[in-house]
Amino acid sequence: MSSEQTTVPVIIDTDTAQDDCITIIAGMMDPVADVRAITMVAGNVGFDQQVRNAHLTLNALGRLGEVPIHLGCRRPVLVPWVSAENVHGDGSGGLRMDEEGLTTEAEHGVDALLRLTAEEPGEISIVAIGPLTNLAVAAIKDPTFPARVKQLVIMGGSNNGRGNITPAAEFNFYVDPHAARIVFEAGFDITLVPWAPLTLQDAVFKRDQLAEIEALGTPLSEFFGRVCSSTLAFDESVGIPGTTHPDSLSMAVLLHPDLVLRSSRQNVAIECDSELTRGYAAISWGVHGLEPNAEVIEAVDGERFYTYLRDILATPTQPNRPFRVGDQS
Ligand code: BDR
Ligand code: CA
Repeated sequence: MSSEQTTVPVIIDTDTAQDDCITIIAGMMDPVADVRAITMVAGNVGFDQQVRNAHLTLNALGRLGEVPIHLGCRRPVLVPWVSAENVHGDGSGGLRMDEEGLTTEAEHGVDALLRLTAEEPGEISIVAIGPLTNLAVAAIKDPTFPARVKQLVIMGGSNNGRGNITPAAEFNFYVDPHAARIVFEAGFDITLVPWAPLTLQDAVFKRDQLAEIEALGTPLSEFFGRVCSSTLAFDESVGIPGTTHPDSLSMAVLLHPDLVLRSSRQNVAIECDSELTRGYAAISWGVHGLEPNAEVIEAVDGERFYTYLRDILATPTQPNRPFRVGDQS
């Protein structure tokens, strides 16, 4: 970081498993970021396992207890919760540690989002890498909330591309489509990091890159290999040639916007009423005269993004507690 570069205060709103863990690592290790809080939302795996995964991640960093973890909404607004355990296992690759004395905050995640942004209006950005339930509930509870958030980077949707949980929908928007609709209509300054084609094109780490990360031999590279193991197996079984990193790309794009090669302001609207296309993100492409409500990222420098994460994973850390490898239940 140059001496003139200011830090970016950020809250990570997460359903912590696999790449959500890597996002926390990027946020905590990148000197540009100042991570103020982690807020947990129902998504990838069981809620309590997600909290465990966040603690495991902070442990790998040697920074247990340094960032408050606030528990947010334990289910979507209207529809029952759907998990991605078939993709991520428990999201930690079966890692365990002694959990004695680990704590989370008494304050609810939604209230933490409201309080932190009220204490510093217009200063704090949010990287939202799970279903948007916490953000939607916060915006309902306090309609002045969206204007207090500096930048909201959302991982979700596909840009006229394939879904990953249904043919039409990406997981985060599918799980809580009503929340996603509320958020896109709430007036946030949104940057959108979609699944397809962006993630599949620029944020897949291939076998040779994974081997390079493994060879680093640091606690963070070992942790990376572990938490990404289930996802790698799943991805390869569906024809994706490596591990997918849309969540950590969202953090990287916030902290280093010069990674972005192409983006455009578009209208993003979320389908809530159709069973077939539930959670579909209808993203305009500039010809329909629709009012833009998001900056949609279309291409990033994938090689630089990989190098960015690899260099972070190469940095030695001292985990607070020894890890054990258990089963994934
Ligand atoms: C999104 O769903 C989750 O499984 C990932 O963490 C990412 O946020 C991709 O569809
Ligand atoms: Ca996620």
